[in-house]
Amino acid sequence: MDTVIPPTIEVHLAPDDLRVAMEADVRAGLTSTRKQLPPVYFYDDRGSRLFDEITRLPEYYPTRAERAILEAHAKDMVESAGANVLVELGAGTCDKSRVLLDAMQSCGRLGIYRPLDVSDTTLWEAATALSEEYPGLAVHAVVGDFHHHMDELGDEGRRLIAFLGGTIGNFDPAQRAGFLTGLAAVMRPGDRFLLGTDLIKDRARLVAAYDDAAGVTAAFNRNVLHVLNRDLGADFDPDRFTHVARWNEPEHRIEMWLRSEDACRVKIADLGLEVEFAAGEEMLTEISTKFSPDELREELEEGGLEVEASWASPGDEFLMTMAVRR
Ligand code: AVJ
Repeated sequence: MDTVIPPTIEVHLAPDDLRVAMEADVRAGLTSTRKQLPPVYFYDDRGSRLFDEITRLPEYYPTRAERAILEAHAKDMVESAGANVLVELGAGTCDKSRVLLDAMQSCGRLGIYRPLDVSDTTLWEAATALSEEYPGLAVHAVVGDFHHHMDELGDEGRRLIAFLGGTIGNFDPAQRAGFLTGLAAVMRPGDRFLLGTDLIKDRARLVAAYDDAAGVTAAFNRNVLHVLNRDLGADFDPDRFTHVARWNEPEHRIEMWLRSEDACRVKIADLGLEVEFAAGEEMLTEISTKFSPDELREELEEGGLEVEASWASPGDEFLMTMAVRR
């Protein structure tokens, strides 16, 4: 019987780094002509719970579609990758990785799990739970972000580097290019990249997934204002901002905005900043890019990666792509 291996955690982000980044992001975002906030600030405890609720909404298909692909094909993925190390970028609660870890276990390849995330508490809880659930598995968690810490992905074994959930859709084209080139640079021959992406589909279905009838996505969107109020001493009145989800056809992405119903002036005490919103002014809070398989292949190629295999969910809603370094 394998024994439980205590998990390790490597911290490459000090609490102060996160704070400095948040201050800079919010200052830049609120003082630009088209106001915007990065989606990473949605995910405090309440935001993470709301996101979890989103993944169970009838309108929000991506999580179920990706899970269906993983459940049907995780074994092929692990076997064809020959991987004994699973790296997960933006792991969060490490929930999706269980399907891949199960597959590694049944192929006799369960070696190391290396989740990377910005949240140390979430990672530590998940790492502890997983090492108990999978005796023999070494969990080496890394606190970092995938724009700066791609060279902290370990150098042991044959790696399957997973970026799941469609999170790459949050990046704009320049960020995607930077991310892919950075990834290709740290991949070794034999390593595999496993990417989950949402696909372009009927516009009404897309919009509904980001504007659910129960209003959970609206609460999730407005939560970023609660985060700024608490963490930066801001005085947003979240109830006076309306959730807007819109399909941007030329960029093929869903955009989430917060619209200030009335003209207002908001103070962000910790930044010594006051900003004005005109009546009806909208602030961009998230982009969620949708892909076509051909365009995705081209983007991966431009980033230095070559598609080896891909799996679509029933009805072509979601795509998982396996790529190697070119
Ligand atoms: C976690 C970024 C993949 O874009 O679908 C869900 C976040 N935002 N509903 C997405 C989200 C609103 C989600 N990702």
